[in-house]
This record gives sequence, structure tokens and C-alpha cells, in this order.
Amino acid sequence: MDWQRLLDQAYAHVAPSLGQRGRVADYIPALAQVPAHAFGAALATLDGECHEVGEAGKPFSIQSVSKLFALILALPVQGEALWTRVGKEPSGNPFNSLVQLEYEQGIPRNPFINAGALVVTDILQTQTGGASAAILDLLRTESGNFEVAVDVAVAASEAAEGNRNAALAHFMASCGNLRNPVELVLGEYFRQCALALSCRDLAKAGLLLARHGLRADGTPLLTRSEAKRIQALMMTCGTYDAAGEVAYRLGLPCKSGVGGGLLAILPGVGALATWGPALDEKGNSIAGVDFLDHLTTQSGRSVF
Ligand code: DON
Repeated sequence: MDWQRLLDQAYAHVAPSLGQRGRVADYIPALAQVPAHAFGAALATLDGECHEVGEAGKPFSIQSVSKLFALILALPVQGEALWTRVGKEPSGNPFNSLVQLEYEQGIPRNPFINAGALVVTDILQTQTGGASAAILDLLRTESGNFEVAVDVAVAASEAAEGNRNAALAHFMASCGNLRNPVELVLGEYFRQCALALSCRDLAKAGLLLARHGLRADGTPLLTRSEAKRIQALMMTCGTYDAAGEVAYRLGLPCKSGVGGGLLAILPGVGALATWGPALDEKGNSIAGVDFLDHLTTQSGRSVF
């Protein structure tokens, strides 16, 4: 398979409409400055190659893609007990919805909506004493780029406007589903969301799942079964209330973030990261989904 040619073709497919539809995530003021027409993509393959198009080397705010790496760290330590505090079902609601959380007594539907990620951050904080630092360390090691860092301006910007996440966290604390102080959990959560990685870095870090849980140095972080389960959750819950539509179009497990990033795992091939900041109304990158739809359709490769 000539993956570089397929990436080039998918890029040519999305290029004419970049920035013409959707809008950037301006509810986080620091992200409102990002150009809507930017685009990059990278495919890191299991045989050690990295194919790239566009601004594949430019760091962007990974936002909710960090929720995936928080789960990757927390699950193997906590084991199945993690699922007593957060569910595994698609929410069918916006990623920052409050209403479902009250109906369900402070147990978030899944680890990839904001409430679920706050619980996973709380668990990781208890396990490590520094949740965002643990995720940063994992991403540096797996990407091989030790310059990966938290964009503190983005973290501060989100914290200043973070009333909705604070409401989710306080409600869960009132239900006994947070163990650490609310302000500490929120701070760690905002820092992990503000991690800045390029498509190249993110695709390389995603290889951990394509290798069924093996780290870049060959040591196991996840069991094969845990890697399977996490990818199943990406497929069913990784793109919020658009997970059905995205699964229909891509046939890949993937996780999105409102910074415009998407990380998808292509079984037997590698990990794909895209960045296109203009989002649809559900908060997913329009160009990223279009690009991956074209790539999976033209290559005939997906989970199915
Ligand atoms: O908490 C927020 O709203 C953002 N830091 C992340 C949102 C996002 O990327 C989509 N969430 N699941």
C-alpha cells in the first residue's frame, strides 16, 4: 500500500474546503486565535515509517485526545474497579452535558466525556500524585519528542472560563465520586487538555494501541485485552454524540478533541493523527473526519 500517495490524495480532497465550514472552539478563548483553515495529518506505521501531509509538525492543543491517554494510564493500575466510577456506554449527549449526570447519580456515562475524564483524572491523581505530569511523561516517551509540553496559556484560559467543568466536578464530588479536592482535579484536567502535540507526535504516541499495548521500547503498558477494550470505547464513545456517524464514515476507533485533533488506530497498519481546527456542531474536526473518510474508503482499510 502506497500510504504517502493515499495521504496526499486525501489531503487534496479536503484542501479546497479548509476553513469554509464549521468554527474553531472559541468557548476556550485561547483557541479562538487558531486559524480555521490549518490542516495537518500523519500516519505512523508499525514498521517505523511516518507519512505526513500539511502542517504535520506543528503543535496544537490536543484537548480531549488527552482523555485517551489518561485512561491508558489509569486502567491498568485500577483494573475493572475503574468501571464502578465511570460507565462504558455512549452518552448520546454533548460532551459537557450536565443533565445526564444528575439522572445517573454522578456516575458519568463514559471516560471520554468531560465528566468521565474528570473522574479518570481524579483516579490518576490518586495513583501518581500528578495526573497531568504522568500523561505528559507518557506522551514524551511514546512520541520520542521530549519538547512536548503543556501550553500554560491555554490551560489558564480554560480555567478562567471553566464554570461548566467546575459544575460537573462539584456535582460529582457531592455524589462522592471524586476523591481529591475539586480545584486540584480541575487544574490537572485543564493542564492535560492543554498539552500541545503535533500530528507526528500524536500518531507516534498512538502506536501504543496499534501495538496492542506495547510501549515504544517494547515493554507492556496495557494487556492485549486492555488495548482492545480501550479501542472499543474509542469507537463507541470517542467522538461524543457523533460516535455513530463517525464510526459509519471511518470504521476506525478514534478520539477527537476541540482543538481540532483526531487520533485513529488503523489495525495492522499504525496510528493516524489529523488536525483541522474548524469543528462541526458536535465538536469534531470537519476536515479531519473528511480526510479519514477518504483515506479509509480509498485504501479499503478499516476495522471492517
Ligand atoms: O473541557 C473542555 O471542554 C475541553 N478542555 C475539552 C473538550 C473536548 O475536547 C471535547 N471533550 N470531550
